[in-house]
Amino acid sequence: MAVRTIEVPASRKQATARALITGGAGFIGSHLAEHLLDEGYDVCVLDDLSTGSMSNLEHLDAQDLTMINGDVADRSLVSDLVRQCDVVFHLAASVGVRRIVDNPIESISVNITGTEVVLDAAARFRRRVIIASTSEVYGKSTKVPFNEDDDLVLGPTKNIRWGYAASKAIDEYLTISYVRDRGLPATIVRFFNTVGPRQTGRYGMVIPTFVRQALQGEPLTVHGDGTQQRAFAHVADVINGVHQLTAREDTIGEVFNVGNDSEISILELAEMIRTRTGSDSDIVKIPYDEAWTIQGFEDIKRRVPDLGKIRRWIGYEPAWSTEAIVDDVIAHFRAQPDFS
Ligand SMILES: NC(=O)c1ccc[n+]([C@@H]2O[C@H](COP(=O)([O-])OP(=O)(O)OC[C@H]3O[C@@H](n4cnc5c(N)ncnc54)[C@H](O)[C@@H]3O)[C@@H](O)[C@H]2O)c1
Repeated sequence: MAVRTIEVPASRKQATARALITGGAGFIGSHLAEHLLDEGYDVCVLDDLSTGSMSNLEHLDAQDLTMINGDVADRSLVSDLVRQCDVVFHLAASVGVRRIVDNPIESISVNITGTEVVLDAAARFRRRVIIASTSEVYGKSTKVPFNEDDDLVLGPTKNIRWGYAASKAIDEYLTISYVRDRGLPATIVRFFNTVGPRQTGRYGMVIPTFVRQALQGEPLTVHGDGTQQRAFAHVADVINGVHQLTAREDTIGEVFNVGNDSEISILELAEMIRTRTGSDSDIVKIPYDEAWTIQGFEDIKRRVPDLGKIRRWIGYEPAWSTEAIVDDVIAHFRAQPDFS
């Protein structure tokens, strides 16, 4: 396989490469901002702070960081920001099934319109783009591990929970179309469960939820019978993978799974977190209908990425074990005034 690296032109290098991160005040975006600043980029963050927070960025070197509080669907703002940058990481979205279920109209619209606005601006200024998609697009496929070329198996439209997957799948179709018809240099990354410091449990993310519950002596609330399997990646591994994919021209027009393929059941995860926090919290099982307040909630039995493609292309290998990830999240919580 021929490997070419996209070089930032020397003139721009001297002037410092500039990255735009939509959703950069969020969990993954703020880690990406930190990584790119460390790599010598100027970073511009566009975020409406709907789920993100300025506190995610306040430890960063403000000299090379610009924060714009705005909407990714604002065409003229996005056009201006894209024109001024060399590379765009599009992460802004209504994230996760919980937000789609609670607020479907706004969430589906943000995910689709925001992506179209970013793609259109990037195509006009021919900017390198990374589009954040999700493992949710595989839907309820039972063919594990999930491979980038697999069919997507979504449930009926009456079940709103599939709206998150469907909106992200539309983002992918749009991206592939812009690559094909307008020569846009874009790559799609499908993040699997990504975890680390600064992720909030507010929108149903399981590890921060369990860690908070364990540290506060509350019951750890397992949805269903807890035998569902997941594979958790540390955000640092994910960011490294994304950055390497961005640097290569042969990844344009491609889709990559990014995550960790080490599986654990949710019940085992709850037990691990209880042990590693030293908590004596109970572990309680809650039926899906109760946990999600929608009837007939469909969960995914096993969600694990096939990492063969990203391994072959960039030699990606996640460095963080599930235990190390859990310990990092626990340490992050313990450093907060409410938990120390
Ligand atoms: N965390 C995961 O496990 C995971 C898994 C799969 C995919 N993803 C994808 O990764 C990306 C980042 O997710 P995250 O986990 O960091 O979530 P997050 O909620 O922390 O980040 C999303 C950011 O987008 C911002 N945003 C939302 N709507 C916006 C709008 N209209 N205009 C401007 N900003 C807006 C939010 O304020 C937030 O800062 C998302 O695209 C998400 O779908 C994340």
